[in-house]
Amino acid sequence: MALADPADADGDGISGRARLVDDANGALALGRFGGKATAASLDMQTADAAAIDLGLSSVFVPLPHGDCTPAQKACRAMATGRSAAFENEEISREMIALVSAYVRSLEPGNGDPREAPPELFAEIGCAACHRPTMPDRAGKPLAVYTDLLLHDLGPEAAGSIPDRGVSPSEWRTAPLLDLDPMQGKRRYLHDGRAATIAEAIALHGGEADASRRAFLRLGAADRKRLVDFLSRR
Ligand code: HEC
Repeated sequence: MALADPADADGDGISGRARLVDDANGALALGRFGGKATAASLDMQTADAAAIDLGLSSVFVPLPHGDCTPAQKACRAMATGRSAAFENEEISREMIALVSAYVRSLEPGNGDPREAPPELFAEIGCAACHRPTMPDRAGKPLAVYTDLLLHDLGPEAAGSIPDRGVSPSEWRTAPLLDLDPMQGKRRYLHDGRAATIAEAIALHGGEADASRRAFLRLGAADRKRLVDFLSRR
């Protein structure tokens, strides 16, 4: 939260803002998960995905018809699987907790978390959003390369729909992890529109425009050094 600068008070052209969302207890908390920072915890991210992607309701997201709107009458008229066995929803709190415990057990990234980025990562402004480390709950630094804030990346990276107060071109800084686990077969940005890491950087507009231009001005050797570092993460 301390990193947020919604009105760009420091005048660096970068105005990250924190998104506050309901956490599982009904209080407001920082949205950390999802491209639009929609969920404050892994339980809520799991419950969101169950409801919106799979149409399975829970006490956290009680939407048995997923994101079908009132205009989608046939969808809304379908039977639901709500059951007294699952707290009158389609899946129970316990099922959500088991899925999020599994996700929590996965190891992040392939790379060595102690490998420092080349200095030019900060020099050309990448580190303004992709913070090399953030503290975990115990204060231990985690090499996640995100500030967890929403930034406007302009039309180049925009989607087509807003999300409750978040514009189509605003995205939570993607963590730079597991960037090349399949040796060139992964795609990048929220919808996979970039085929390579360099193309993903070239599609950074808006608040990241100056940083993108600085990247494109680098000599071939520096650009390769940066992309090689990122593909080891
Ligand atoms: C103003 C903030 C900002 C700056 C500056 C910035 N980025 Fe990003 N970056 C983002 C956001 C937000 C996303 C997620 C966009 C999306 O999902 O469409 C992203 C996504 C990426 C991705 C794709 C990650 C993935 O998993 O698909 C890469 C790679 C990346 N940035 C590298 C860089 C590099 C290298 C620099 C410096 C040249 C840089 N970024 C500068 C905010 C920024």
